Amino acid sequence: EKAGFDHFMLKEIHEQPKAYRDTMGARIDAAGKKVVLNEIGMTPEQIRSIRQVHIVACGTAYHAGLVGKTVIEKLTRIPVETDVASEYRYRSPIITPETLVVVVSQSGETADTLAALREAKRNGARVVAITNVVGSSVAREADDVIVTWAGPEIAVASTKAYTSQLIAFYLFGLYLAQSLGTQDSSYISEVVAALQELPNKVEAILAQADTIKNAAEQISTHNNLFFIGRGLDYAVALEGSLKLKEISYIHSEAYAAGELKHGTLALIEEGIPVIALATQEDLFEKTVSNIKEVKARGAHVFGLNAEGETELVKVVDEVLTIPATLPLLMPALSVVPLQLLSYYASLARGNDVDKPRNLAKSVTVE
Ligand code: F6R
Repeated sequence: EKAGFDHFMLKEIHEQPKAYRDTMGARIDAAGKKVVLNEIGMTPEQIRSIRQVHIVACGTAYHAGLVGKTVIEKLTRIPVETDVASEYRYRSPIITPETLVVVVSQSGETADTLAALREAKRNGARVVAITNVVGSSVAREADDVIVTWAGPEIAVASTKAYTSQLIAFYLFGLYLAQSLGTQDSSYISEVVAALQELPNKVEAILAQADTIKNAAEQISTHNNLFFIGRGLDYAVALEGSLKLKEISYIHSEAYAAGELKHGTLALIEEGIPVIALATQEDLFEKTVSNIKEVKARGAHVFGLNAEGETELVKVVDEVLTIPATLPLLMPALSVVPLQLLSYYASLARGNDVDKPRNLAKSVTVE
């Protein structure tokens, strides 16, 4: 059942190219130029009436929602807020019939996410669900459902469900932009083409597993470390940090790189590992200056950049290079080495990778 892999998590990491292809599937037109989302029942008028988007989810799905915020805002210029469901449901969020609420849930059964969905509907909002389980509670109660075709996810640590949620956000963002006319068709087809290249690029990252394993073995002897990044790299840093905590039990924190000097820099000491994501061209120089700040205080920096970038190697201790894509699509690549990093760190520590202590796959009680 593990198809020759030692753990479900590793199998599911390797299933990502297929999960990307299946999730895009028939949702891209035959010419490869635009997105077709027949599962969205909103009329063009209804789409034009959206004044704000709320993305609500828990855990890893929340981290996908943070990427979703940037994607939807960039493509449509509609303001988007992303919130943790257990906070959202109790804070009297300002929901009107002009709010579109997007709930994200692999299982479709998470109690807080379901409660947030109901709160949204009570206030007259339309709800779109992004879920991996057809017929789940969230799928049944939402107005529109975008299924992520990742297939069953068994490992407690979510991998292919998260990346399929990213693909769903790219498709949905493009779909909204097409309806609203906020992006021209040449840009849309450029993004669509880049999306279709992602599965092969993930394969290329998976082929570098040995390099990542080496980094994982180095960090596995530490009890604290940091992930830093800016923009979309920060959103992915949060996910990388959660993954590492939940299965390796190493304490880690993800920090928006520019925030370090407002307090957390005090924790940087000789030898502490820092994983620095620097895949976003327009923020690259800024991230490099933050890397220099932690280096100057003795951190051992593992840098992550995209092919074609040649400066990072000069400022970090070790560099991992992944294939290049549009900056907007980078999270769908950059998270993959972080998934492998946490997998191999957990393995090096002798933990039960697929069933980490204290955690359940589906959280149906609040
Ligand atoms: C982390 C993880 C959890 C889930 C969260 C939400 O790897 O799996 O953080 O993402 O419990 O679950 P779903 O997506 O089923 O609502």
